[in-house]
Amino acid sequence: MLLQGTLLLFLLLPFCSSTRDTITQNQSIKDGEYSLFSKEMKFELGFFSPGNTTNRYVGIWYAKLPEKTVVWVANRNNPINDTSGILTIDRYGNLLLYAHHNNEIPIWHTNVSVQLSKNSSAQLLDTGNFILIQEENNKNILWQSFDHLTDTFLPHMKLGLNRRTGLNWYLTSWKSLDDPESGEYSYRLDVNSSQFFLYRGSTRYWRNGDWPWKKVPFIVSFDMYTYSFWDNEDEICGTYFSDDANKITRVVVNDSGSLQHLEWNVADSQWKEVWSAPKYQCDPYGHCSANSKCSPDNVNKFECECLPGYEPKSPTVWYQRNGSDGCKSKAVGSSHCGNREGFLKMTNMNVPDTSGARLGENMSETECKNACLRDCSCVAFVSIEAKEGSSCLAWHEDLMDILEYTESGYNLSVRVTDDLAENPRTSKGVTRKRIMHAVIFSFAGLALLLGMIFAYWWLKKKRKLRYEHEETRTEPADLPFYHLSTIIAATDNFSPANKLGEGGFGSVHMGRLSNGQNIAVKRLSKSSGQGVVEFETEVMLMTKLQHRNLVKLLGCCIQGEEKMLIYEYMPNKSLDSFIFDQAKRSLLDWRKRFDIIIGIARGLLYLHQDSRLRIIHRDLKASNVLLDVEMNSKISDFGMARIFNGDKIQDKTNRVVGTFGYMSPEYALFGKFSTKSDVFSFGVLLLEIVSGMKNNGCCPENASMNLIEHMIQVWNLWREERALEIVDSCIKPSYIPDETLRCIQIGLLCVQERDKDRPTMSAVVLMLNCEIALPSPKEPAYVLRRNYKDTDLIGTQGSYSENEMNITEIVAR
Ligand SMILES: *[C@@H]1O[C@H](CO)[C@@H](O)[C@H](O)[C@H]1NC(C)=O
Ligand SMILES: *[C@@H]1O[C@H](CO)[C@@H](O)[C@H](O)[C@H]1NC(C)=O
Ligand SMILES: *[C@@H]1O[C@H](CO)[C@@H](O)[C@H](O)[C@H]1NC(C)=O
Ligand SMILES: *[C@@H]1O[C@H](CO)[C@@H](O)[C@H](O)[C@H]1NC(C)=O
Ligand SMILES: *[C@@H]1O[C@H](CO)[C@@H](O)[C@H](O)[C@H]1NC(C)=O
Ligand SMILES: *[C@@H]1O[C@H](CO)[C@@H](O)[C@H](O)[C@H]1NC(C)=O
Ligand SMILES: *[C@@H]1O[C@H](CO)[C@@H](O)[C@H](O)[C@H]1NC(C)=O
Ligand SMILES: *[C@@H]1O[C@H](CO)[C@@H](O)[C@H](O)[C@H]1NC(C)=O
Ligand SMILES: *[C@@H]1O[C@H](CO)[C@@H](O)[C@H](O)[C@H]1NC(C)=O
Ligand SMILES: *[C@@H]1O[C@H](CO)[C@@H](O)[C@H](O)[C@H]1NC(C)=O
Repeated sequence: MLLQGTLLLFLLLPFCSSTRDTITQNQSIKDGEYSLFSKEMKFELGFFSPGNTTNRYVGIWYAKLPEKTVVWVANRNNPINDTSGILTIDRYGNLLLYAHHNNEIPIWHTNVSVQLSKNSSAQLLDTGNFILIQEENNKNILWQSFDHLTDTFLPHMKLGLNRRTGLNWYLTSWKSLDDPESGEYSYRLDVNSSQFFLYRGSTRYWRNGDWPWKKVPFIVSFDMYTYSFWDNEDEICGTYFSDDANKITRVVVNDSGSLQHLEWNVADSQWKEVWSAPKYQCDPYGHCSANSKCSPDNVNKFECECLPGYEPKSPTVWYQRNGSDGCKSKAVGSSHCGNREGFLKMTNMNVPDTSGARLGENMSETECKNACLRDCSCVAFVSIEAKEGSSCLAWHEDLMDILEYTESGYNLSVRVTDDLAENPRTSKGVTRKRIMHAVIFSFAGLALLLGMIFAYWWLKKKRKLRYEHEETRTEPADLPFYHLSTIIAATDNFSPANKLGEGGFGSVHMGRLSNGQNIAVKRLSKSSGQGVVEFETEVMLMTKLQHRNLVKLLGCCIQGEEKMLIYEYMPNKSLDSFIFDQAKRSLLDWRKRFDIIIGIARGLLYLHQDSRLRIIHRDLKASNVLLDVEMNSKISDFGMARIFNGDKIQDKTNRVVGTFGYMSPEYALFGKFSTKSDVFSFGVLLLEIVSGMKNNGCCPENASMNLIEHMIQVWNLWREERALEIVDSCIKPSYIPDETLRCIQIGLLCVQERDKDRPTMSAVVLMLNCEIALPSPKEPAYVLRRNYKDTDLIGTQGSYSENEMNITEIVAR
């Protein structure tokens, strides 16, 4: 019955002479009697009670929607407790709402000063605007509800500031569905930076980084909506409307603090959310605080990461995955200025909070960069391309609210010290120079030249094809090519006496160049044809990586079937030649071993994170850690390494390569690898360095079993609090029990069964460097499987998992 009545009312109303959109002086609207309807019946104005309350309010809602959706409330902070309310225009021409229950108590009124003799009226428009006008004064608008927003931003409303009257247009949430009183959330424009912020109380907690900095006025159309923003002497504000005039749409700050854009869905007869914010982990303003970026797709990783050249302000808080303290610059004093520093370009970034930024118009990227470089206080810039001329945003204080997208976005160039900066030379230029050289100085240069061009082209093409989307920071480096004859001379024609070792895909020889420099030459075996992929990977990676704990590639030699990599020579060879050697193990005291551990951890961290490429080494072991003259550790052998896309967490291979015993179970058994499989290998290596456990050396399978047995032994002693018994007797005189025990604990954390339980390398580096509390390790991998046979452990077809067993090839190294 009620429904029918309502329907009847709706059908009748448009034709009913009594519907009106205007009240004039001395007319009034009484609660319970009737409402105002806009001309086309889009909106209704009258008395209502929201939710379960009995309080009465004057408001505006959509006239035709079955769900009462209020878009504006007059007396939101001053409800009427009964139905005696009356809305009228008083004799001064102001709108007045009063309650009649106890004399005439004014509840709400407008404050315009009207010429008394003039006739004023108020009209509800089809936009949802309620206006007070003066008939005799060209229908001048004296007051309008669009100037006094509540929680809803309707099309054609303005958000911003009226510079002439000082009136602020902003949204404030309701307290609850029952109570339209001003809540704690608001959405407003920061005039200084032209950015919109959501506030909770006076704290900013979400920034709309989409409109700021853009040259005003601007109009953009996107997804059937048009948004515009302008800034002139009258006002600075934004507005929006739907390109489809019939669409019913609104933006609202809801009472739980979300900014929601909603559309009425006619088919479903309900509101549908177009978007809302803040929504994602990285959305809250300054989630990672100063100078660090938030990458939402790091599922396992802590989403915050310091900008290059910055470090956590409070490492302990940071390690607990709390970014609230942010990062500070590593450089102190003047070293950031006039010291050959440069910029590191970070792609797919948002534009950080522009509150502290300066805008330079019509400046090219180079001009922007140079201007920033000249100014010692400039910490970063973004160059924004536009048809009318690029503009330049430069920051001079802490960078806030930085977000990394998976695609699109801007290039944020961060000022960094010399060693981190992009190499400004392009390899093209260098190549051209080298070519000139060849032409001028070498008579037989033509063949060489062609060879070089071909080799360069070949390398570049491969690199481009395979890694195009993955590396944006470094251009292909300036990698020298060596002539085969040079290498033959240097290695005494690869004489066996100069042989350093035999790798999976060839041999390594020591050599000495005519200038006296010692080199290590890794020569791909000609015949096998195997290892070409590994060779290419290694070239690709090594030209891009530079770190004091990675072995340095000096150049390569590609001629005919010969493919060689030329490395710096490490006189102390590899770590295994020390820790597993009866005579030499005592040369490494505890301090040196600890430094070696830290060096490996740093090198690995660089691979996983700091190099901007995410690289999984996949074959970390004692024989792949080289030692320089000062016993600094350097990771080598990148033939197995894999580059990950920034957002990828784990990958899978059908070709399990690596060394048993150092392999994490998920990799050895299922071919799944991630940074956490490197962490596992690191843990094994760490335990080896501490214990000096001697590799049996007889046959590979036994060796791997030894490693696992060893791990189990460490675990059992650890549980009995006797872990120090595993420490190599050679280092007993020099070791610090607490520090050593800590290392063992870190090692055990790294070899835990579940990859999720293992710490990241950044956590490992922190744990090694600071006295922070360590979690208790769980059982190491393989402990539960100790009863399985060797063959199970190395993953023979079908012996392990029903679902994931598709390892087709296993290469033992
Ligand atoms: C409103 O009422 C007052 C007195 O009741 C009268 O003086 C005035 O002229 C009226 N105004 C209009 C526009 O009718
Ligand atoms: C109103 O009260 C009913 C019954 O108590 C409850 O289910 C409903 O959620 C309430 N609505 C609001 C908006 O509080
Ligand atoms: C309503 O409010 C008025 C004044 O604020 C008060 O005098 C009156 O008692 C209230 N009535 C009810 C039913 O609460
Ligand atoms: C009118 O002015 C009073 C006092 O300045 C203020 O509290 C009130 O909000 C104003 N009313 C409107 C509708 O602006
Ligand atoms: C005020 O305007 C209304 C409608 O526009 C009109 O009917 C009325 O006569 C006017 N009153 C005066 C005093 O001008
Ligand atoms: C905006 O800039 C003015 C002048 O520089 C300053 O007084 C005011 O505090 C700034 N406002 C905000 C919100 O930063
Ligand atoms: C506010 O909007 C958010 C985002 O859509 C939603 O999750 C939340 O439930 C809304 N809160 C209320 C009270 O409607
Ligand atoms: C993060 O650390 C700060 C202190 O640095 C602390 O105030 C805040 O409560 C922490 N946040 C969380 C979620 O633990
Ligand atoms: C931008 O700068 C170039 C040269 O620096 C000048 O020719 C051009 O007119 C400028 N454009 C604007 C819009 O100022
Ligand atoms: C970012 O830099 C890259 C390489 O320099 C360039 O190709 C790209 O267009 C730039 N992107 C933007 C949005 O400027």
